[in-house]
Amino acid sequence: MRKANLSYICQECGMVHARWAGRCSGCQAWSSLTEQKASPANKRRITGAATRSPGMEVVALADANPASIPRPAPTGIAEFDRVCGGGFTPGSATLIGGEPGIGKSTLLLQIALKAPAGAVYITGEESLDQVRTRATRLSGTDKLATDLSLAAETDISAICRYIQAHRPALVVIDSIQTVYSSDVEGTPGSVAQVRTCAFELISVCKSVGSPLVMIGHVTKEGTLAGPRVLEHLVDTVLYFEGDRSAGYRILRGIKNRFGALDEIGIFEMTGTGLAGVANPSHLFMAERSKSPSPGIATVALLEGSRAILADVQALVCPTSFATPRRSVVGWDSNRLAMVTAVLDTHCGMSLGACDIYLNVAGGLRIKETAADLAVAAVLTSAAVGAPLPTDTVIFGEASLTGEIRPVGQALLRLKEAERLGFAAAMTPTLDKVSVKATALRISPVTKLSDFVYDMQQRPDQRENADGRR
Ligand code: TYD
Ligand code: MG
Repeated sequence: MRKANLSYICQECGMVHARWAGRCSGCQAWSSLTEQKASPANKRRITGAATRSPGMEVVALADANPASIPRPAPTGIAEFDRVCGGGFTPGSATLIGGEPGIGKSTLLLQIALKAPAGAVYITGEESLDQVRTRATRLSGTDKLATDLSLAAETDISAICRYIQAHRPALVVIDSIQTVYSSDVEGTPGSVAQVRTCAFELISVCKSVGSPLVMIGHVTKEGTLAGPRVLEHLVDTVLYFEGDRSAGYRILRGIKNRFGALDEIGIFEMTGTGLAGVANPSHLFMAERSKSPSPGIATVALLEGSRAILADVQALVCPTSFATPRRSVVGWDSNRLAMVTAVLDTHCGMSLGACDIYLNVAGGLRIKETAADLAVAAVLTSAAVGAPLPTDTVIFGEASLTGEIRPVGQALLRLKEAERLGFAAAMTPTLDKVSVKATALRISPVTKLSDFVYDMQQRPDQRENADGRR
């Protein structure tokens, strides 16, 4: 017989089950269910409470006073402010996720060091000496001129009492998985603990108007560990990503109640902490030799409100496997399959007997469809052995009918290319205003087949083909 008042909660996704099972039916994780007693709050009947309640107070929307709406205060780290909507809003809650070692603690300590007097950095992961050593390294001096308070505390009630009494200018929790509440069963980091502690922290920070930043660990699959509900509780969710071997990191906004969503902040890990990269295009453009080679092009992308240029490279060679290889780094492999199908069907260029290797320079991950034309161009260039002009930037979306469709913010992309010394652009058909406003030579492509035909007719293509024969 099932024990009364017992339920089973999945530690991966937070789904509640009435019976124990070896596998969670929500997220399919194995051995993730743990026993949980129903709390007295869950047992309370709403109906009885409703009749006794004094009722809800409502206010007229028109009475809202814009001057009383809290404004974000800049953190002093421009790349961070760009992503979180201009800084921390009083009473707001922010969650930062990322792989171990990506630089979450480093970034937040840098922010805390620049914060106004009264900020507190609470660590449950490192000792105070470790944090002090890091702060010295980040500041480049032994004599730290800062009013930042440190604490190595994991008990939620002690943390909340401190926040209530001191109203800190900023509260940093490193990390939410190490904090525990003695009122809840389970080890620190379990779903019930993480949910309760986050809820208490958010409530107390809202009541005193202190901005709260919590660091969250990510699972093997790359999502924030603990319940999804954590993402719903907070105002802003940011992910720190990037290849640890490539020196730069990208801070991406996943949810933001205070600003634009798709902004990214780009940082470089240096000997003295994370430094914002003001000119990211240089990171994603490979060194080019004087003599151009086939299979490389520069694409103009849009990340939030700024344009970034990145190099796309392709290698196309006859396959020696029964099924040709498709190896893609930095782009969607389904999108590559679509572009090769369009090249095959509408442009007469069959790559079915070839292996294809596609790479985006610098470890960048492109999510935009504006890279379609550049990918089609590098594949064609690699397949026919003719280089693309090195002074030309490329962008445009390919449709399944083989036409090139316009993409948003064309002028912004053209301006970034102009700034970096490009002389021409291969684009979808542009509006007259954009064409007039740019100094670049524009070669519009309306049909992908026209571009492929031109490439196949080029004299250097014939020479290359002869050379191979
Ligand atoms: P850390 O911030 O502790 O990562 P997380 O909190 O996300 O787990 O560490 C980031 C890495 O950066 C660590 O391996 C050491 C390195 N690092 C530097 O290269 N330069 C620096 O100035 C600092 C402080 C760390
Ligand atoms: Mg850390």
